[in-house]
Amino acid sequence: MLSRVTRRAFSSTRISPYKVTVLGAGGGIGQPLSLLLKLNHKVTDLRLYDLRGAKGVATDISHIPTNSVVKGFTPEEKDGLRNALDSTDVVLIPAGVPRKPGMTRDDLFAINASIVRDLASATAEAAPNAAILVISNPVNSTVPIVAEVLKAKGVYNPKKLFGVTTLDSIRASRFISQVENTDPTQEKVNVVGGHSGITIIPLISQTQHKGMPKDVKDALIHRIQFGGDEVVQAKNGGGSATLSMAQAGAKFANAVMAGLDGEADIIEATYVDSPLYKSEGIEFFASPVTLGPKGVEKIHPIGEISSEEEELLAKAKETLKKNIEKGVVFATKK
Ligand code: NAD
Ligand code: LMR
Repeated sequence: MLSRVTRRAFSSTRISPYKVTVLGAGGGIGQPLSLLLKLNHKVTDLRLYDLRGAKGVATDISHIPTNSVVKGFTPEEKDGLRNALDSTDVVLIPAGVPRKPGMTRDDLFAINASIVRDLASATAEAAPNAAILVISNPVNSTVPIVAEVLKAKGVYNPKKLFGVTTLDSIRASRFISQVENTDPTQEKVNVVGGHSGITIIPLISQTQHKGMPKDVKDALIHRIQFGGDEVVQAKNGGGSATLSMAQAGAKFANAVMAGLDGEADIIEATYVDSPLYKSEGIEFFASPVTLGPKGVEKIHPIGEISSEEEELLAKAKETLKKNIEKGVVFATKK
């Protein structure tokens, strides 16, 4: 039998070292996300970039005794962004402005679209093979923007571009457990569609709680769809979800690295270039995806759904189509 020490040495040699870059690392999400990535043993080289604050965050978390080397980069230093990205494996993008009460995620497009476009362009040049995880809102539109930028640079790999919708999945687990009085760590809800209001579709019919009363179910679905608003209102002008989002982003990044590492059965819902509804003009869609050594390995169809969920899906598709077109038009305009 292997001793505990031998087993630990064996399992640690299986893990490949990953270079990870956070763009927007000085912000509300960026800071705790960077902290969680510093604690992830899959990460050996952590690079933090922001217009402000990245060096401070990097120096701060660099004192934590895990093996990764952490470095901060600024736009003021020569090639700061390029060096933050150079040959990195995974890029997380939480750069951009968050909502204030009364705003929709789409209201952020005017500012965030160009931020994401420019960061995508830099990534295409410095790390064309990286997996890109887009957090900046509106995700339904910013992901298509990144795709168009990469296409224009000739480096688009649909298997390596992800809109991070994990927060919807973790909210669904938490909220359903509160309704049903169950252990949230054991609750799994497939959340499909996109990442804004009615485009977020939790498939309650696929859970063991499908028999819950209609009024309870409708309220639960609404809470999952508009969970972001709860946080925006509670922060009262101070921004939107940051800590739960950092947890969600770190969870998804870990899943992407596990897939790249060849671990089996890594499945997470994510918003990707998807064949599921392409025939209806919807190029991007969130559904459960198996993550593998090349990034996306398999995009799973949404499976059997109830007639109420069919109605939600039809409405979501209308909005998604417009959101995607908006991103494409922005990114391809001359
Ligand atoms: P924040 O304002 O606290 O932080 C954003 C950071 O981005 C700031 O530090 C800012 O300096 C930086 N930044 C802006 N332009 C930049 C650029 N060109 N290059 C590098 N850094 C740049 O905001 P936050 O609360 O961290 O939210 C960030 C984004 O994430 C928002 O768009 C928000 O809507 C979105 N968000 C998405 C989800 C999701 O589920 N996908 C969840 C929560 C928030
Ligand atoms: C969320 O779902 O919390 C984020 O998309 C931020 C927001 O604007 O609600």
